[in-house]
Amino acid sequence: MSRLTINERAVELRMDPQTPLLWALRDGANLTGTKYGCGVGDCGACMVLIDGQALRSCLVTLGEAEGRNITTIEGLSPDRSHPVQQALVAEQAIQCGFCTPGIAIAAAALLARNADPTPEDIAAAVPNLCRCGVYPRLVRAVQRAGRVMRRVETISAAPAPGLTPQDAARAVPAMKAE
Ligand code: FES
Ligand code: FES
Repeated sequence: MSRLTINERAVELRMDPQTPLLWALRDGANLTGTKYGCGVGDCGACMVLIDGQALRSCLVTLGEAEGRNITTIEGLSPDRSHPVQQALVAEQAIQCGFCTPGIAIAAAALLARNADPTPEDIAAAVPNLCRCGVYPRLVRAVQRAGRVMRRVETISAAPAPGLTPQDAARAVPAMKAE
């Protein structure tokens, strides 16, 4: 039994402690916003915040996550209002969207410590791979999110259609996996 906090909820997961956190989140907690890209730490699609630090969940075991605070893309904001999410939509920095959750997590971690990043800062802190090549728009989006966080700009982008964060949160009681 592994006990951890996911998106501000205390969770117990009955899974092998050697299970990658990525699969514990997706299969044990039904939080499928965290994506499997490469499984070996290269792409960043699986990034989550662990105690506020953006880390690749394919490289962290469930046992290593014991007692830690995990934030997935579903928990970044309750209504997709995080400036990074708003700016990614507003700057159309999303094509297929597969890389987007990991990018949003990495960008949120960067902006939490530096709300005025240079393109070089962004390249270093958001090394995520995007097969659709949204990189120029990504830089614009992260800098725009920073301006929102510094309160020199506002954005109100429409939320994406589909499963809402509230829908995802309702799936959480099914978290205990045998
Ligand atoms: S799936 Fe984890 S870095 Fe690619
Ligand atoms: S938007 Fe398609 S992989 Fe990045």
